[in-house]
Amino acid sequence: MNATTDLTPGTPGPTTAADPTDPTDPAADPTDPTDPVVELAGVTKAYPGGVAALRGVDLRVARAELLAIVGPSGSGKSTLLHIVGTLDRPTAGAVTLAGHDIATLSDRRLSALRAQHIGFVFQSFHLVPGISARDNVAEGLLYSGLPRAERRRRAADALDRVGLADRMSHRPHELSGGQKQRVAIARAVVGEPDLLLADEPTGALDSASGAAVMELLHDLNKEGATIAVITHDSEIAAQLPRQVRIRDGQVVADVRAAAKR
Ligand SMILES: Nc1ncnc2c1ncn2[C@@H]1O[C@H](COP(=O)(O)OP(=O)(O)OP(=O)(O)O)[C@@H](O)[C@H]1O
Ligand SMILES: [Mg+2]
Repeated sequence: MNATTDLTPGTPGPTTAADPTDPTDPAADPTDPTDPVVELAGVTKAYPGGVAALRGVDLRVARAELLAIVGPSGSGKSTLLHIVGTLDRPTAGAVTLAGHDIATLSDRRLSALRAQHIGFVFQSFHLVPGISARDNVAEGLLYSGLPRAERRRRAADALDRVGLADRMSHRPHELSGGQKQRVAIARAVVGEPDLLLADEPTGALDSASGAAVMELLHDLNKEGATIAVITHDSEIAAQLPRQVRIRDGQVVADVRAAAKR
């Protein structure tokens, strides 16, 4: 959470006291900077039909970490991303995001908490067709309460940060795959989320574009972003300082290694 975004310029009306029960109220954020961004304890996920996709996962992600969640197809990586990203709730076990036990929140409150704290990047980019790169990035601030002009200004800054200052008005179909993914990353980080979750972010890219995307994620992490990259690719995982290996829905290794690069 970026404290500077709390003071929305131009917002009319009187200042109200923080509501500690409202996760959408930045002033009510109970987190300590030393707390984990997200913590899973004993998380199980059973899909209807009886597939146990996650079986007792414990995971703690600290601020400014860069980690890989790596495992073979069907091991439960995307399921874990959905649970960590609060897009889905566990069957059993606890998920704490930015100090909130998500089991205590309504779906509406949870959506607000997610919008405030998490940015998502997907293998297939998920950009809105027919609108510019800049407007796609500004979508990442739709629920920020910022006026449109400020959203567009920050979108321009974010595109500059990912090296696309010269592609602001290009629409998705006018961009290369690697550029589309950089737009998607700009959209995910423009609101300065506490956690960036990327599911196979290089999966649709050639190796050069994929390497550029990983380089960008490293740079964002050096600037302080907390990033989890989901991948089936051990080589990509090996580039990152922490690797959480999952197999058959369980964490089978959690290693912090000196990064290779
Ligand atoms: N909606 C669902 N309903 C039922 N079973 C599901 C559902 N989604 C996933 N599964 C099952 O849960 C297990 C884990 O799936 P998940 O998508 O998390 O794997 P993954 O590690 O992301 O695989 P991949 O690398 O192929 O994307 C698989 O056995 C899958 O068949
Ligand atoms: Mg998957």
